[in-house]
Amino acid sequence: MSHLTIEGGKPLYGTYPVSGAKNSVLPILAACLAVDGTCVLHNSPALSDVDAAADILKAEGAVVTRAGQDLTVDASAAAPAELREDLAHKMRSSVVFLGAMLARFHKAVLAFPGGCELGPRPIDLHLAGLRRLGADITEGYGLLNCRAPGGLTGADIALSFPSVGATENLMIAASLAKGVTTIRGAAREPEILELAAFLNAAGGVISGAGEDVITIHGVQRLHGCEAVIGPDRIETATMLSAVAAAGGRVLLKGAQPDRLSVVLPYFTAMGVRLTDTPQGLLAERTGDLHAPPFCRTMPYPGFPTDAMPPLMAAATVAKGTALFEENIFACRYKQVPELCRMGADIQCSGRLCVVKGVTRLTGCPVTATDLRGGGALCVAALCADGTTVISDIHHIERGYEYFDDKLRGLGALVRKD
Ligand code: UD1
Repeated sequence: MSHLTIEGGKPLYGTYPVSGAKNSVLPILAACLAVDGTCVLHNSPALSDVDAAADILKAEGAVVTRAGQDLTVDASAAAPAELREDLAHKMRSSVVFLGAMLARFHKAVLAFPGGCELGPRPIDLHLAGLRRLGADITEGYGLLNCRAPGGLTGADIALSFPSVGATENLMIAASLAKGVTTIRGAAREPEILELAAFLNAAGGVISGAGEDVITIHGVQRLHGCEAVIGPDRIETATMLSAVAAAGGRVLLKGAQPDRLSVVLPYFTAMGVRLTDTPQGLLAERTGDLHAPPFCRTMPYPGFPTDAMPPLMAAATVAKGTALFEENIFACRYKQVPELCRMGADIQCSGRLCVVKGVTRLTGCPVTATDLRGGGALCVAALCADGTTVISDIHHIERGYEYFDDKLRGLGALVRKD
């Protein structure tokens, strides 16, 4: 198993290119399966989750090729194939392929996704929505058997929680359904806007993305198109946390501040000066690091749950006490015992975590337990005295592209073995 060795305590200087967003490219790859033609996705990050999505597409008969940061998907000759455990469990969000499979093939068999390292991952909202579109779904022997013999039919769907994945699944499915679909209580994340733009470029008719109510007029066929995957806002927030913790001055090339309007004030309050430049976001730690304001994770436009663990890592070395409240996932604090091994002072109780800033962290062997928790350990390691060895970095490689290379580009002493 690979690990990252980081010699910390060195401020970061230079330019860090922000990659295309994992959470944008994954649903768009799922949508490609609903397209009868060739799609080119520019700025697609090379991540293990993206490889897993490509494997699913290939299993369904699509041709997927990569040239640099361009992914080409030709699903013209796609044909239904069962997604058993080996493929479905490689990628956390494989359920987002269900809508595309049902829309295109009128049937789908998918291994039940089950839980993940952040806790149980129910898919009731996905299934209820697809049932509203006319799918007949039975569950048994760990498999979801889905059928819509006459195709899907548009419907009025209300989500009791603005699930990102369920909104995406239903947008894809409804794009090829007969008639009009309305999704009320929809997720509003920037990734929803990117998926809608992609589907519209492919001939779909979607309005309201980014708002509570999304309307989808079904079309008979989606055609090939091109899309540019936008910058990863969670990678950006992770690197802002790294600059806060380790100090320095970094240009986050390509970062889009408007995707982070709730997040950025946390860093300015901590003492990171932020300047919007034509090339991206310039971040500079100007003096002492102060504890961030109360951080409560919420659906967009609230503070993103994925940006919380890296921010918490920075808060461990800030002056003062920080309070965190996690409202999206049951097990989002798994990095806390690892941060405490490095000398952090953190107390957790249920959804709440209290972080009392310490003057320094000390490097030691730690284990990444999930993707963003792994990002948090990297932030901690970059500011810690001495050497931190992070194991189980396959979690980190799900969502941070060429991370060791990009950190070395900032002068960090990072080695991957
Ligand atoms: C997406 C992101 C993930 C991010 C999350 C929240 C991708 C690939 N992943 O995940 O990085 O952390 O949004 O911003 O885009 N829920 C249900 N029933 C459902 C679906 C969800 O109860 O049918 C619950 C989940 O258990 C969780 C909450 O809703 O507690 C949020 O989940 P959701 O918004 O669906 O997140 P994902 O799409 O899985």
